[in-house]
Amino acid sequence: MDIRINIAIDGHSSCGKSTIAKAIAKKFGMRYIDTGAMYRVITLYCIENKIINNGEVDIKELILHLPKINVSFEFNVKSGKSETILNRKNVESEIRKHEVSSFVSIVSQIKEVREKLVVLQREIGKKKGVVMDGRDIGTKVFPNAELKFFITANAEIRAQRRFSEIRKTGVSLQQVFENLLERDETDSNREINPLKVAQDAIVIDNSDLTEKQQNNLIFELIKKKIESND
Ligand code: DC
Repeated sequence: MDIRINIAIDGHSSCGKSTIAKAIAKKFGMRYIDTGAMYRVITLYCIENKIINNGEVDIKELILHLPKINVSFEFNVKSGKSETILNRKNVESEIRKHEVSSFVSIVSQIKEVREKLVVLQREIGKKKGVVMDGRDIGTKVFPNAELKFFITANAEIRAQRRFSEIRKTGVSLQQVFENLLERDETDSNREINPLKVAQDAIVIDNSDLTEKQQNNLIFELIKKKIESND
C-alpha cells in the first residue's frame, strides 16, 4: 500500500520515540528518519575535528565546516535497520556514545545547524510515507503532518530504560539521569524551535504502558488516519 501521510513523533529524551517510530515504519511500510541521529552526527564531527574544546563549541568554526558535513542514512539489509552515515562513514554506534550525548544539546541549539538539518528533513518528507522522530517535527519541520504524537514518560523511568541500554559503557545511572534532566531543560528552553507539544498532537505518557499496549494504541490511530486520508 502506498502511504500518503507523514507522521511526526516528538517528545522528551529516552522515552522510546525511536522504538515506536521503527515499529510504525515496519508495520505500515513507511520510511523511518531519526533526526536526533542527525544532530548527533554533527556533534560527533565537532568532537573528531576539535571544534569542541574543553566543553566549549567553537560556533564560528562549526559554521565554516557545515557545508563539508554530509549526513545521510543507509539501509543495512543484514540488520534490517537504517544506519547513520557521516561523510560516507557508518557512525551508527559512535553517535550513541555518552560523550556525544553530553554535547548534542549544545550543538542542536545553533541556528545554522538547525537550518541545515530542517532543510534536509523537509526534503526527505516531500514524497510522504515518512515517520520522523525528534523534538520539533510537529511544530517546525512538518507543521502540516497528517498525524502527530508527543511521547513522554516519568524521568526516573526514562533514565532506567536508557541506562539498561548503555550500562556496558561504564556510565552510571546517576550520570544518565542528570544528562537526561539537562537535555530536557535545554531542549525545552532553547530559543530556536524548542521542544513543545504541537497544538494538534496526541500526547502519550508511556510510563505505565507496555510496548505492546503502546503500539496497539498508536497503530489503531494510524489505521484510522490512513483510512480517512484515502
Ligand atoms: O533523540 P536523541 O536523544 O537522539 O536526540 C539528541 C539530541 O538532539 C537531543 O538532546 C535534542 C536534539 N534534537 C533536536 O534538537 N531536534 C530534533 N529534531 C532531534 C533532536
